[in-house]
Amino acid sequence: MAGRFKVTVVGAGNVGATAAHWIAAKELADVVLVDIVEGTPQGKALDLAQAAPIDGFDVKLVGANSYEETADSDVVIITAGLPRKPGMSRDDLLKTNSDIVGNVTDQVAKYSPNACIIVVSNPLDAMTQVAFKRSGFPKNRVMGMAGVLDSARMRCFVAEELNVSVENVTCFVLGGHGDTMVPLPRYSTVAGIPITELIPQDRLDAIITRTANGGAEIVGLLKTGSAYYAPSLGAVEMAEAILKDKKKILPCAVYLEGEYGINKLFVGVPVKLGKNGVEQIIEISLTNEERAALHKSAGAVQELIDVLGI
Ligand code: NAI
Ligand code: 2OP
Repeated sequence: MAGRFKVTVVGAGNVGATAAHWIAAKELADVVLVDIVEGTPQGKALDLAQAAPIDGFDVKLVGANSYEETADSDVVIITAGLPRKPGMSRDDLLKTNSDIVGNVTDQVAKYSPNACIIVVSNPLDAMTQVAFKRSGFPKNRVMGMAGVLDSARMRCFVAEELNVSVENVTCFVLGGHGDTMVPLPRYSTVAGIPITELIPQDRLDAIITRTANGGAEIVGLLKTGSAYYAPSLGAVEMAEAILKDKKKILPCAVYLEGEYGINKLFVGVPVKLGKNGVEQIIEISLTNEERAALHKSAGAVQELIDVLGI
């Protein structure tokens, strides 16, 4: 028996509160929900705790405006920040969210020095780099969630296109979480069959474009915020892989030091997640074109890092 795990979710907004919901419903861990707004994390934690008797999940849920309650968390999911509004790019959020994520990380590192940190706040890759630098944690314990979401979007569109179960579809999306993300049809399959053999090129191109615009499509529909069901579940899938030491391969934003020819930068690539966090970075072979697209995407992340000067 591993005992009870503890997960802190910072930011009790749409993504954070929904992450707490998924964690509780899956009975993965006790949850501490933190936000700066007084009453919000407490109210949402209490509401979720009152759902426990109905669904029968046995986890403790606490809301707080400070970090004492978060002490010794196994995993911390950072969703604090501002979401993208219509017409606003992820990069517009850079300065504001880097201050927020930096301050949050200071507290997280102080109270949970052995935790794995999963960043969700945007712009994702740059915010993960902020959390890495500010925490002083080793690189295996700081990672960003984007690839799981971007791949899930592509899986959803491929399943719809072919009228097959989403369970049959595996997709690969690499690179930064932005317009330059790199969906890889060659490594995407339906029941083991590459989608390049099942979907004509023009339809595939449309799916790739829709995937890259997946976040903006939802912002355009919601108008007052951005996606949160799939993003929160993406972060929870990563937390589950760590807590249960699953050795699960997922695309995550991780600190590259030469892998894929990229250095000292957080970019999305396939990794193995287990109890030590990022246990292996998996280098798949890429065509010249795919490699160039990945480097272009990494270049877009580097620009933000240069602006932040970290
Ligand atoms: P939201 O506005 O619903 O929630 C954000 C919460 O953060 C608010 O409750 C706010 O009070 C809180 N907050 C702000 N400053 C804080 C601080 N210093 N400490 C603690 N809490 C603080 O936004 P939502 O929809 O939950 O999105 C959160 C972030 O996640 C945004 O930056 C958004 O762009 C990003 N996001 C990233 C995705 C990804 O794939 N990586 C997908 C979806 C969202
Ligand atoms: C998304 O992709 C806004 O980054 C967020 O939905």
